[in-house]
Amino acid sequence: MYGTCHHRQKGKKIFEAVWNIVAIAAPVFGGRIPAIVTQSLAKLNGTGKKAVTLVVYGNRAYEDALLELNDITEKCKFEIIASGAFIAQHSMNPDIAAGRPDDKDRKVITEFAEKVILKLNSEAKNKIKVPGNYPYKVFTPLPTTPLSLSACTLCQQCVSVCPTNAITMETGAIKTNPEKCILCMACTANCPENIRILPPPLQEKMRQMLGKLKSVHRENEFFL
Ligand SMILES: Cc1cc2nc3c(=O)[nH]c(=O)nc-3n(C[C@H](O)[C@H](O)[C@H](O)COP(=O)(O)O)c2cc1C
Repeated sequence: MYGTCHHRQKGKKIFEAVWNIVAIAAPVFGGRIPAIVTQSLAKLNGTGKKAVTLVVYGNRAYEDALLELNDITEKCKFEIIASGAFIAQHSMNPDIAAGRPDDKDRKVITEFAEKVILKLNSEAKNKIKVPGNYPYKVFTPLPTTPLSLSACTLCQQCVSVCPTNAITMETGAIKTNPEKCILCMACTANCPENIRILPPPLQEKMRQMLGKLKSVHRENEFFL
């Protein structure tokens, strides 16, 4: 690929540019960034670094999430050069945005990445403006956690994928700490037996609340 001198130099330039850039991505929960993400990000020092910020949402709306992510990122002293809001299958109701990101999403996201690289090599210094409002939408956590049905084999895959250590195995049973669980659904998505589920009443509530989004096709958004 970098057979000629020209290509080698171009490759080096892109490599150097990419080396100094950080991609900061977060899922959207209730139109916001999960608190666990904001707490982790607050520890970063971005002085002298450029950042591309990305939120991933399940085809409903990202509301104040990208604004919140950009505010935290700037507070950590990164220079934001581009932002994006990408669609992915809804983790609480996988019928929504099923199969996304798909090939078309991958194509437009790759084009976005190419534009980011071009921008890195230019002198452009525009402030990235993204949608969102102050005060941010209030996030109200749902008072429940996923549960393991009695056919659970105790393989503990759920324990190992939980990002907040909310799941433990105690006296031969899987326990979920509701104080720690953020309902991210990593445990249900990764259960090899499909016996880790949302409580059925909540599944039904989600079907009712989100069902109409099945026929909606939102596009990825880019801010450069
Ligand atoms: C608790 C929770 C709240 C969510 N809130 C929203 C939302 O407000 N808007 C939306 O479009 N999608 C929402 N989603 C869907 C996620 O943003 C989407 O599935 C995203 O891909 C999750 O990323 P992950 O798969 O990396 O966890 C929510 C999902 C969960 C689990």
